[in-house]
Amino acid sequence: MMNAARKAARGLIRDFGEVENLQVSLKGTSDFVSSADLKTERLLRQELEKARPGFGFLMEEGGEVIGSDTSHRWIIDPIDGTTNFLHGIPHFAISIGLERDGEIIAGLVYDPVHDELYHAEKGGGTFLNDRRLRVSARRKIEESIFATGIPFKGRDGHEDFLETVPKVMNASAGVRRFGSASLDMAYVAAGRYEGYWETGIKAWDIAAGIILVREAGGYVTDRAGGQDMLTKGSVVAANDQLHKTLLSLVKEK
Ligand code: IPD
Ligand code: CA
Repeated sequence: MMNAARKAARGLIRDFGEVENLQVSLKGTSDFVSSADLKTERLLRQELEKARPGFGFLMEEGGEVIGSDTSHRWIIDPIDGTTNFLHGIPHFAISIGLERDGEIIAGLVYDPVHDELYHAEKGGGTFLNDRRLRVSARRKIEESIFATGIPFKGRDGHEDFLETVPKVMNASAGVRRFGSASLDMAYVAAGRYEGYWETGIKAWDIAAGIILVREAGGYVTDRAGGQDMLTKGSVVAANDQLHKTLLSLVKEK
């Protein structure tokens, strides 16, 4: 996974440099970014297929590919934070989760601009590059910072979501919206945010992040408090001290 991500990141960084140049051109950047997205995904798939022939795939661009080994599946987002990438904002990541019989057993989130590679394997802890991570120890919600993402207007859950934001804002030290769900979860694992919640999210946005948070000692549920994050597209992740409190603020009605 690491080799695949590092290899794909080299092209991504070159393309990001190009986006920064294109910002000032009238041609715009959208087509260029879609092709960077596709190229990165293709390369990740190629490398992972070489390493583990037969595993299936679920990819943001390419959709589902059933493998000959039906127990294992890679869940891939080639650029999580596409809008940031498109605008030349250096906050995006490659996200790869590995699922075995429906359970995420390994995850990697790589922020190539800052060379921050977050990785976790079930039972083995979470690491940022070589450093072991632990969720933050803050217990007081009024001293805590939370990340979220905002579902587009007209999309499922937009109105409902807007009700949750003031609740968390009023209770906490701040809410952030940085635009990359996988990095939001990696930051929870690293103890930078105390928690993160979002609705209307896809499996490839959060698959890797789930195991990063868990292996760093945090909790992850859906917005009803259950374990159907990938199918329901809702997620509440936080340190062990504050998950219950965050969940109570943003719980599904
Ligand atoms: C998006 C980002 C964003 C989240 C959206 C996602 P994309 O993924 O993770 O933070 O709020 O829900 O769709 O489109 O940049 O790969
Ligand atoms: Ca994404």
